[in-house]
This record gives sequence, structure tokens and C-alpha cells, in this order.
Amino acid sequence: MKILIAYYSYTGNTEKIAQAVERLLSDQQVSIARVRPVKDYRGPFTEVLSALFRRKSAVEAAVTDLEGFDLLVIGAPIWCGRPAPPINSYLKELQNCAGKQAVTFVSSRVGGYRDSLREKSEEKGLQVLETLAFEKAILEEAELTRLKEAVERCQQK
Ligand SMILES: Cc1cc2nc3c(=O)[nH]c(=O)nc-3n(C[C@H](O)[C@H](O)[C@H](O)COP(=O)(O)O)c2cc1C
Repeated sequence: MKILIAYYSYTGNTEKIAQAVERLLSDQQVSIARVRPVKDYRGPFTEVLSALFRRKSAVEAAVTDLEGFDLLVIGAPIWCGRPAPPINSYLKELQNCAGKQAVTFVSSRVGGYRDSLREKSEEKGLQVLETLAFEKAILEEAELTRLKEAVERCQQK
């Protein structure tokens, strides 16, 4: 099965999780794409406002087309209770999403944000199989098991 892991990370926690996911799924054909803002991080105040008002910031990523992929695993840090803006921009740019399966994951300091990437993903026509949440970048075993189970469900379809 062809899987794309796409993520945004500012301080490295989400990247650590994305890399753990890549290792966990190493028996599949996995590609990994880090989303990078075109402009540098503009300081916490501007970025927090962007998160609050759900603004889009220009981004670039190695892969922006899901053609040929069976599953998207997409992840972002939580800023001000919402996914960091660059991941919204990436989702907006992403092509050929309709009917594709997805697993979302978020990385935050405290819990409670599990489903925050679901709506934006579903708006793109993605079918969200599972939503994962990691606190303080701890690779919680239960979350990784949920991911494995979602991949198995995807393979059975
Ligand atoms: C601007 C900003 C806002 C944040 N807002 C929240 C928040 O509302 N809730 C929370 O639990 N963590 C919040 N955090 C913490 C990050 O979500 C957390 O450290 C995450 O793991 C960072 O991921 P990263 O290292 O991939 O950037 C915030 C961090 C930043 C920089």
C-alpha cells in the first residue's frame, strides 16, 4: 500500500511523531513530506493571530498530489487550540483527495484536540479513518496501535 505522511512542525515534536509513524509503517511503501512555510516563522504574535483567524500562509511541500497514494497520514501542532495555519494551506493545495482515506494526528502540550484536523480533511473529500493525538511529543503506544489498526482496515478495503 502506498502511504503519504505529510506534516508541519515548527519546534520538532510533530516531526518526531511523523518519523515514528514512518518507522512503524516501514513494511509499506511510505513517502514523507514536510510542509514548509514560504516565509519564515513571523514571530509568535503574528502566528497566533493567523491560527485564531484561520488565515492561510503560503507553503511548499514535496508532494501535493494524492494520485497513486492509498492513504494520507497528516499531522500538525496545535496553536491556540487549532491546527497550525501551514497545514490548512497544505490541505487547500492538496490535489486528488476525493474518496482517499486519511488518518490525522495532532501534537500539543495538553490534550483535547484529537479531532481538530478532521473537519478540514473531510472538506477536501478525504475519508478520515482515525484521529490520533500526542501530548508533549510522547509516542503513546495506544495511539500508535490505533494507527496500525486503521492501516489494516484500509488494506482490507
Ligand atoms: C504559537 C503556539 C501556540 C500554541 N498553542 C497551544 C495550545 O493552544 N494548546 C496546546 O496544548 N499547545 C499549544 N502549543 C504547543 C504546541 O502545540 C506543542 O508544543 C507541539 O507539540 C509543537 O509541535 P512542533 O514541535 O511540531 O511545532 C502552542 C505552541 C505555539 C508555538
